[in-house]
Amino acid sequence: MCGIVGYVGPKDAVPLLIEGLKRLEYRGYDSAGVAVRRADGALDVRKCVGRLSNLEEALEAAPLAGGLGIGHTRWATHGEPSEINSHPHIDCSGGVAVVHNGIIENYLELRAELEAKGHVFRSQTDTEALPHLIEEILKGGETSHAGAIRAALRRARGAYALGIVFRDEPGVLYAARCGSPLIVGVGEGEQYIASDVPAILNRVKKVIYLNDGEVAELRASGATLSKLDGTPVVPEVKTVTLRAEAAERAGFETFMLKEIHEQPRVLRTLLDAHVGKDGVVNLGPASALIDEAATGLRRVLILSCGTAYYAGMYGRLLIERWTGIPCETDLGSEFRYRGPRLPENTLVVAVSQSGETADTLASVRLARKMGCKVLGICNVPGSTLLRESDAALLTQAGPEIGVASTKAFTAQLMAFALLAIRMGRVRGALDARRERELTEELARIPDGIHRVLDKQDDVRAVSQKYYECFNALYLGRRFNYPVALEGALKNKEISYQHAEGYAAGEMKHGPIALINEFLPVVCLCTPTADEVHEKVVSNLKEVEARKGRIIAVVAESDRTIRGMAQDVIPVPETIEEFSPMINVVALQLFAYFNAKLRGADIDKPRNLAKSVTVE
Ligand code: M6R
Repeated sequence: MCGIVGYVGPKDAVPLLIEGLKRLEYRGYDSAGVAVRRADGALDVRKCVGRLSNLEEALEAAPLAGGLGIGHTRWATHGEPSEINSHPHIDCSGGVAVVHNGIIENYLELRAELEAKGHVFRSQTDTEALPHLIEEILKGGETSHAGAIRAALRRARGAYALGIVFRDEPGVLYAARCGSPLIVGVGEGEQYIASDVPAILNRVKKVIYLNDGEVAELRASGATLSKLDGTPVVPEVKTVTLRAEAAERAGFETFMLKEIHEQPRVLRTLLDAHVGKDGVVNLGPASALIDEAATGLRRVLILSCGTAYYAGMYGRLLIERWTGIPCETDLGSEFRYRGPRLPENTLVVAVSQSGETADTLASVRLARKMGCKVLGICNVPGSTLLRESDAALLTQAGPEIGVASTKAFTAQLMAFALLAIRMGRVRGALDARRERELTEELARIPDGIHRVLDKQDDVRAVSQKYYECFNALYLGRRFNYPVALEGALKNKEISYQHAEGYAAGEMKHGPIALINEFLPVVCLCTPTADEVHEKVVSNLKEVEARKGRIIAVVAESDRTIRGMAQDVIPVPETIEEFSPMINVVALQLFAYFNAKLRGADIDKPRNLAKSVTVE
């Protein structure tokens, strides 16, 4: 979703703003802009629709120079993508410029009030209410810019991360946060703001994570923080441990392909962190909450959105199987509105790559109000989710830049496997021998994924035959049902090929009507030794009888399915419970090559945002 970068210091702001915005491109955007306070005292703005390269061209044609500036990539919510609607937005007199992520929910009311006082709005955005409101407050007698910002934000309802600069205050960059992430990058004699760490990872090693309701006043020399009522806040400066290369493509043609290939390493890192040489699972700082909760738990509720929701579906199956505790899943966007009833001793497990997904966060807040403890499974240290959870299980996948989630998903699956084993042991539902068997099997998964990656050209050859199709159906059962959903999501997100995931047993209740000689049906057929395998074979027979084009993900040793399928993608076998971690990689590659052959912009799929910070 929208990206923010800001700079104050001795250097020229524009190249730093553009560099930072480029590093945020993965978040998804449709227009971009910058505002810089020039040396001659003017506050100047450049904006463009489309890619950042358009903005760069505009800046080449009409350069801007100055050591104080803010930049923004916009993902349209209020008002179409257009130059007028892109940020920064300014007030009537051009005295203040604002970039904003989030939504000001009472903007219509504010706008009407300000228009009645003579303010002229140029855009259709919710954001524009803020510079006009700040201007109005200053006109009303407020003498400090920080005071005007705080007063304006006390009136604004909704979510925001803001970067603000004033024409009449050289050398001061303002920032504020409520509900949308924003960090301050603390440099030597210079300060940055950014909506995400990768934007400034190559520039600073120290950051301040702003909390909701805080306003930052940044000068080259340092940061001052206050709450909306003016109370000073002592900033907590943290050191970033990520290396800048983590946010580079490392020779891969896209971030997504790089991240697909990182999966064996990511899973090994998680295993090394949480499984001892004796095969015992230890969840580090999260253990206390998990162990305490596991003994008296009546229910586990997993909350998440999108790909993370499918990881949650997988987690539910494992938790119920290995702990015997009833477990349910819900989408963040549904849970918060369904009037949920939660029995006492419900543990909420919230799953999110970014830790900033608005619907997931709102559901977590509701569950906490209802008295639940929350375990956050998340990839981003310092994220809002982790700060609002009682305990954290970090997926440690490193920055995921590709909009389509890959390594974060497999890391979430691994985190659930470790969590379910640990809870099963604490409950006495698994014994030490079974724990060891399971962790030994888990240790084989990274190699299994390697073997799938080694055969990526074979997957490309399969895509070559199907990438022009309009639709595809993905089928899986039990542990591989969430994988079918995830495979279909991956394909539609990046290749724009319509794809639908279904529980294989449900096919005859509707989607079977679609099957003909043109429809590719991707089916997850491993492992072969479990009780649902035969059922999957029967479902495939139904597809075969209607001349559907079967693409089967099969065990390397499989001989049965090959006879029925037009194409097979062989993968190494593991136990059913862990097969999703291997199978999904085959589907990620399939989606990837479909998208590539269709000429799609894989790292920046249209209309999508990496982290969905609005409802
Ligand atoms: O950051 P989160 O894991 O909370 O994000 C949830 C979804 O928005 C995300 O998984 C989305 O579905 C991705 N585009 C999937 O590739």
